[in-house]
Amino acid sequence: MSVLDIVLVPDPVLREKAKKVAKITPNVQRLLDDMAETVRKARGVGLAGPQVGILQRVIIVEVPRDDEDPNAQHGFFQLVNPEIVKRAREIEESAEGCLSIPGYIGDVERHVSVEVKALDRSGKPVKVKARGFLARVFQHEIDHLDGVLYLDRLKSADKLHKLPPREEMQDETDVVA
Ligand code: NI
Repeated sequence: MSVLDIVLVPDPVLREKAKKVAKITPNVQRLLDDMAETVRKARGVGLAGPQVGILQRVIIVEVPRDDEDPNAQHGFFQLVNPEIVKRAREIEESAEGCLSIPGYIGDVERHVSVEVKALDRSGKPVKVKARGFLARVFQHEIDHLDGVLYLDRLKSADKLHKLPPREEMQDETDVVA
């Protein structure tokens, strides 16, 4: 496995629509594994194909267990062709960052729960019912596949905040995707 370079704004690749994966080949599986290693190294919770310059519909989501909130959903997902098939009507605004937009965080409205349909790394169909923070990360990553950034979803300019240097923001390192 290897760590990939993360593409940063304003690279135009982040604004392109990624293509569906036609067949899960060993190359696609290697990409999923490299992306998993990359997101861990970057201490993020999610990564999408376009963020490593690959316009394919693949995402990694890894939300760790939250000791302070044992009811919060967590898990590790390597998904191909993910699609949101259900969304709660209820929305929630919360802080969100992006590995492709270092140094910033935004308050973004997202559906409180979503159902995601996808293929896993072996090509098996899977359905994930996600709520809370996990649901937020799925929405953020699937947006990346359509060239959408959280910046596009900010209700106003004052919802975007500049972060102090990352080493002083240990608490915030878990919200970048
Ligand atoms: Ni992102």
